[in-house]
Amino acid sequence: MDVKIVKDKVAGGQAAFELIKAGIDNGAKVLGLATGSTPITLYQAMIASDLDFSNMTSINLDEYVGLAEDNPQSYHQFMKDNLFNQKPFAHSYVPNGNAANIEDAAADYEQIIAENPIDIQILGIGRNGHIGFNEPGSDLKGLTHKVQLTESTIEANKRFFDKEEDVPRYAISMGIGSIMKGKQILLLAYGEDKADAIKATIEGPVTPDVPASVLQEHANVTLIIDEAAASKLSK
Ligand code: F6R
Repeated sequence: MDVKIVKDKVAGGQAAFELIKAGIDNGAKVLGLATGSTPITLYQAMIASDLDFSNMTSINLDEYVGLAEDNPQSYHQFMKDNLFNQKPFAHSYVPNGNAANIEDAAADYEQIIAENPIDIQILGIGRNGHIGFNEPGSDLKGLTHKVQLTESTIEANKRFFDKEEDVPRYAISMGIGSIMKGKQILLLAYGEDKADAIKATIEGPVTPDVPASVLQEHANVTLIIDEAAASKLSK
């Protein structure tokens, strides 16, 4: 794993942008994208750039089950607000959290990934080491599937909703196996509350207890982390 320590999230967004730009120069056509606070500075750098994504494909990691696509908290809406309205892609895929049958929608999504292999996958990380909505204990080879959110994730995400009861209890997420198919992976993490997860990801054993630790087994991973997120690393 290549670890780049940056001053702050703005520098991190710029560093991730530079790697994406280099990837596109080398022929990357499919970006795997994440939501949450972490990738926002990257998306701002993409928006500020003169890069054109209109011949590229994007594939998002996850979506809540049961939120309308135009719900302000849906990941469909997040991506429009934070990237797609300013920088459209030729095709943008986000899992369908409103499908009548979520298992079928998950299988369809895995097919989309198979047909559009992800060149560069962007990831954030949860405080418990989750990637996508793959919580501790997830199958390290799992594919896109329906997941039940843990109490810690509901707790972390409730800041975006009026009341805790409004936070969806289920999501549809690419699995760890789907994520590992990405040819190159960029994991971004900022702030002290990610420091334990980053230490376990880089220095701990590969274990389902820390889903991101499996990235140690991927041949092309770069972690872009700020000094606070790096603060518990021993080396
Ligand atoms: C988002 C996602 C999540 C987040 C993680 C960190 O699509 O898959 O795994 O990356 O929960 O969230 P933030 O960036 O809000 O700290």
